[in-house]
Amino acid sequence: MAGCINAVITGSGAALPGRIMTNSDLEKMVDTSDNWITSRTGIRERRILEDGYSSVDLTEKAAYEALDMAGLKAEELDMIIAATVTPDHPTPSTSCLLQARLGANKAAAMDLSAGCTGFIYALIVGHQFIACGTYKNILVIGVEVLSRFTDWEDRSTCVLFGDGAGAVVLQPAKGDNGIINFSLHSDGRGADLLKIPAGGSMMPASQESIHNRMHYIKMNGNEIFKFAARVVEDTLNSMMLKVGITADELDYLFLHQANLRIIDYIRKRLKMPEEKVPVNIDRYGNMSSATIPIALHEFVVKGYLKKGDLLAMVAFGAGLTWGGILIRW
Ligand code: UT7
Repeated sequence: MAGCINAVITGSGAALPGRIMTNSDLEKMVDTSDNWITSRTGIRERRILEDGYSSVDLTEKAAYEALDMAGLKAEELDMIIAATVTPDHPTPSTSCLLQARLGANKAAAMDLSAGCTGFIYALIVGHQFIACGTYKNILVIGVEVLSRFTDWEDRSTCVLFGDGAGAVVLQPAKGDNGIINFSLHSDGRGADLLKIPAGGSMMPASQESIHNRMHYIKMNGNEIFKFAARVVEDTLNSMMLKVGITADELDYLFLHQANLRIIDYIRKRLKMPEEKVPVNIDRYGNMSSATIPIALHEFVVKGYLKKGDLLAMVAFGAGLTWGGILIRW
């Protein structure tokens, strides 16, 4: 962006639990079917973190992979930002736990909560520190262990979510590549559409809150679906307008993986071919802030991204929040 140093992604990593839960596993737990889940969501299976592990364990693996790819030592990190709605504790932050594990001795560390848009928000926060010349090496992570906040008796939500983490290293660009535009938004009037009601200062843990299953995710799926269909295209179009490009010039569009029908709807509206719009929801379900960095890492590892490629990322979720980023790879 004019007058600023662009932040460029120089390394990426991912961590996925080994335990796979298939749709047929869910058929044995609640009144659902593989056919319903596949046709309504596109999800075939999801990863569930094993007992005894937590968000920080996933961040650690993803972080080391990203640092390795960037050729950076943890001690060189200036900042760690973990986007998550499922941290290890309300406090301290998961990013501080990670900072200690990595031995990232000079890094500032903070968590960022922006629902499924968290990774986009966190990338932009990191980008700002680089754009101003304040920091040079920033680790940005999207991590979720949603299985611990899922009501396994509620068929309307338990079929949707999965666990995972994706990480990237941000550094100053040497040329005009990197993050070239972004767009962040919120509308708290929709806060009740997707929430975990208890466990905060409004409804602390009590026998009643536990009895009423208030520590689990509650979602109005239909309304979130309509909201997503509305804002994703607008966000993308406004960013493309600002830099003077059209959808046919995008090489890849990384969309938040909440529902294959939303992804297909947007892709068709933009007349983009399937190979330009990565999908991993079939294998991992909705991992909130981890979906986009994991999809990105998979494309990096496969060698699909070439220098100069134009990438867009757009996400939406609880808050309500939504936002996007344009990157010249
Ligand atoms: O990550 C960001 C936030 N999340 C999202 O973006 C999610 C957005 N929303 C969605 O993806 C979809 O709304 C869902 C996948 C959550 C739901 O799909 P839908 O097509 O909107 O279904 P619905 O909620 O309208 O439910 C249709 C029917 C209902 O039965 P009746 O009332 O028509 O008899 C539900 O009770 O499907 C029923 N149903 C199920 N049936 C079998 C709901 N969940 C299930 C289930 N298995 N798991």
